[in-house]
Amino acid sequence: MCGIVGYIGGKKAAPILLDGLSKLEYRGYDSAGIAVRDGDKKPKVIKAEGKLKVLSEMTADGESVMGTCGIGHTRWATHGEPSKINAHPHHTDDDNVVGVHNGIIENYKELRDKLLRHDYSFYSETDTEVAIKLIDYYYKKYNMGPIDALAKTMVRVRGSYALVVMFADYPGEIYVARKESPMIIGLGEGENFVASDVPAILKYTRNVQYIGNLEMGRITSTGTTFYDLNGDEIDKPVSEIEWDSEAAEKGGYEHFMIKEIHEQPKVVEDTIKSLIKGEEGSYKVDFSESGITEDDIKKCSGIHIVACGSAYHVGVVTQYVLEDLARIPVRVELASEFRYRKPILDKDEIVIIISQSGETADSLAALREAKEHGIKTFAIVNVVGSSIAREADYVCYTLAGPEIAVATTKAYSTQLIVGYLMAIRFAEARGYLDDEKINDYIVDLLKIPGKIQKVIDDKERLQWFASKYANAKDVFFIGRGIDYAICLEGSLKMKEISYVHSEAYAAGELKHGTISLIEDGILVIGVATQSDLYEKTISNMVEVKSRGAYLMGLTAYGSYDLEDTANFTVYVPKTDEHFAASVAIIPLQLLGYYLAVARGLDVDKPRNLAKSVTVE
Ligand code: M6R
Repeated sequence: MCGIVGYIGGKKAAPILLDGLSKLEYRGYDSAGIAVRDGDKKPKVIKAEGKLKVLSEMTADGESVMGTCGIGHTRWATHGEPSKINAHPHHTDDDNVVGVHNGIIENYKELRDKLLRHDYSFYSETDTEVAIKLIDYYYKKYNMGPIDALAKTMVRVRGSYALVVMFADYPGEIYVARKESPMIIGLGEGENFVASDVPAILKYTRNVQYIGNLEMGRITSTGTTFYDLNGDEIDKPVSEIEWDSEAAEKGGYEHFMIKEIHEQPKVVEDTIKSLIKGEEGSYKVDFSESGITEDDIKKCSGIHIVACGSAYHVGVVTQYVLEDLARIPVRVELASEFRYRKPILDKDEIVIIISQSGETADSLAALREAKEHGIKTFAIVNVVGSSIAREADYVCYTLAGPEIAVATTKAYSTQLIVGYLMAIRFAEARGYLDDEKINDYIVDLLKIPGKIQKVIDDKERLQWFASKYANAKDVFFIGRGIDYAICLEGSLKMKEISYVHSEAYAAGELKHGTISLIEDGILVIGVATQSDLYEKTISNMVEVKSRGAYLMGLTAYGSYDLEDTANFTVYVPKTDEHFAASVAIIPLQLLGYYLAVARGLDVDKPRNLAKSVTVE
């Protein structure tokens, strides 16, 4: 979604703002803008609809804009169409206040009416212009300083925001305010930064301060000061980001997505190794760093896994594995449903929130809903210091590194690993697994990176198949049990980047309606990695084939009889079947990727999508 960058220091601000915004392009946007101040002169506001490169061309990559203090924004339209006028930064008519905003001001209509009654007028359709003018209103009416005006505004607005503002009377200062939308402050030597996401500032600094919920900050070139809603100063520790800047670059690959697919063997291995201890023969799972204790696990009476999109699909796999290994009831839910359905939660249950970004609005709200019920929350998160990581009772980090492509691949794969290891850990604590079996499972898991690599090495076959099916209109994915969970993710990979309509169906459900859609030439992908369900899935594949479907089969090496049914078969290395999703998803990621490439689409930035969905 929208991206924010701010800079104050000794260098020209505009090139740094444009560079930072370019690192946030992956989040999805439709227009962009910057506002830069040269000393105490009024800010120069430059905006453009479309890609950032338009703004870069207008300003000679920022070099033609004087000033060392500025803010920048990429906008993903919510209130008002994508246009230059609705693009940020927004400003008051006299340029007293200029600012950018991520999030949504829910009561903006009511506030707009109030401001109209006080002789303000509006040039855009955005909620942001309302917020900026409300700050100006309090600042002038009560003759307040910036922090008091911001605090008064925060009390008055409903919704979520990361607000970054400059005041005409305070040259060389940037003010920030935050509720729910992510924002960090980067600390340099004689210069400081503001950003909505780490990659924007990674090139300049790894030292950051996290601004908390309902907090404000004053940023100058030499320091930062933070305040609570009462205007009282608060201390902020400095944290170090461990990601290196190269991890956020394409490194010779055509797209971030294919680079991230290739990174999977390494990040999966890193994540496994971060959660095990001992050596072969006596391996154990170790979640102690997350904060969860043996006692917490033992007394847990049930688990709710709550997430969105691909993270939800990880939850579906995890449900099968957790229930099977640990014999504990698990319910998987979409965060957007969980948060509003008044869930019935038992005090001894645990809510697991899975989120790559740690900022997904619905997942964060679900976490808070669980906490309000007094239920312990366990977050599986990739971004260190993100809101979900900070608010959960226990946190386990996936070690995927920065994931830039909108379509998740490596974060999904590392989340699966955490899910499996949780299942083993819960099974151990509940007495369902002995030491030998635990060791065997971990040995099996440690072989997965090599198996993923083997599938990636065979990618040309999938590339060929994708080019053959580049004009497909509808695709169906069918499978049972864990294979159904794999289908959910395979189908999402296909539709989100190649815009091919696809559906994932539990194979046994087809007969209850969907089979009527099967006609000559339709591509059906049957996933059959689970031996106890294999025959049943094959029967469903035969049913669609006899109605004209073209069948792609996906199974493990050894199940060669699938070729008797499928027109095209893809084999993946065998693993313990609980972990089959980790290898079977790789060909489906590659298929989605190559299909999008064959169709000439913008793989890393698919239309209408954003990397992290920080609004409802
Ligand atoms: O950051 P999160 O893991 O919370 O994001 C959840 C979904 O928005 C995300 O998985 C989305 O479905 C992916 N773009 C799918 O590739």
